[in-house]
Amino acid sequence: MRILVTGGAGFIGSEYVRMLLGRPGGDPARAPRIAPTSVTVLDKLTYSGNPANLDPVRHDPRLRFVHGDIVDPALVDQVVPGHDVIVHFAAESHVDRSITGAAPFVTTNVLGTQTLLDAALRHRTGRFVHVSTDEVYGSIDAGAWTEDWPLAPNSPYSASKAASDLLALAYHRTHGLDVVVTRCSNNYGPYQFPEKVVPLFVTNLLDGGTVPLYGDGGNVRDWLHVHDHCRGIALVQEKGRAGEVYHIGGGTELTNRELTGKLLAACGAGWDRVVPVTDRKGHDRRYALDITKIETELGYAPSIDLDHGLTETVRWYRENRAWWEPLKAAHG
Ligand SMILES: NC(=O)c1ccc[n+]([C@@H]2O[C@H](COP(=O)([O-])OP(=O)(O)OC[C@H]3O[C@@H](n4cnc5c(N)ncnc54)[C@H](O)[C@@H]3O)[C@@H](O)[C@H]2O)c1
Repeated sequence: MRILVTGGAGFIGSEYVRMLLGRPGGDPARAPRIAPTSVTVLDKLTYSGNPANLDPVRHDPRLRFVHGDIVDPALVDQVVPGHDVIVHFAAESHVDRSITGAAPFVTTNVLGTQTLLDAALRHRTGRFVHVSTDEVYGSIDAGAWTEDWPLAPNSPYSASKAASDLLALAYHRTHGLDVVVTRCSNNYGPYQFPEKVVPLFVTNLLDGGTVPLYGDGGNVRDWLHVHDHCRGIALVQEKGRAGEVYHIGGGTELTNRELTGKLLAACGAGWDRVVPVTDRKGHDRRYALDITKIETELGYAPSIDLDHGLTETVRWYRENRAWWEPLKAAHG
């Protein structure tokens, strides 16, 4: 199987590539059954894309890296032929950046996805896996979203993801393209760009600094280790039904204040290191996914306990300063 991974130099895409190629030291019991004959990464290397994320599999002869933009139809038209599956991660992914400037979000997330879908259609790609997010639903006070819940995104990021998610489904309904969509909750783990809350807090704390806590700290997120997200995507890639949406979640809800407490403890720091800051504009209060469909239909279950996963993640950032220090120096 020849797999094209867009955004494969980012946080989650690179985990998917490392997992597909069986990274050295990876746990074979947790690896998916997909055995790729080749993996092509198409990545623009924006500020959050980092070739170092692929270092553990750099010498694998099955890996090919293409530096380029998914919005470029000529390039996409050259790269897509010859692949059986496209797994589409490439996106502008940070909500705060979408609040200060939405243009790259619409360009990459919407136009880029449409460019890929058109190429997949033209070149008869066997399957298109679109990686979406729980943020497309907006915010929910109680209970949990099911896959048929109406989309009501609140940030320019989530609105652009909702647009691309619906476009992907429309290409299935209109053209019969074999599309599957995953919507996942918040991910944490190694190789995450240190602007997102977990690596931002951990690296600030490891450097002896403070961490900013939005509003009253009461916003609730469902946390999932990035490896479990990728295991879920692999299941959907392999066995998901065309035209269907699958939730991937961890079932571990935490308020931001609770998450902060766990990260402080893991870094040996106290609450004196926390600085309350004005809440994010339009900040969704709570996300919660019902994952019954992927559990019952595809046999998915998260495998990494949150406390264990967070401890391991903190250890990774502690031991891999050479990965994140240049990023913080370059991007503040
Ligand atoms: N991080 C999460 O918690 C989370 C949760 C659910 C879904 N998702 C989705 O998963 C996907 C990956 O998220 P992430 O956290 O790894 O993001 P990321 O920002 O770490 O990685 C994005 C990657 O896409 C690349 N990219 C951006 N624009 C591009 C373009 N125009 N052409 C080619 N490559 C481009 C970047 O260089 C980078 O390597 C996104 O689609 C995101 O919406 C993320």
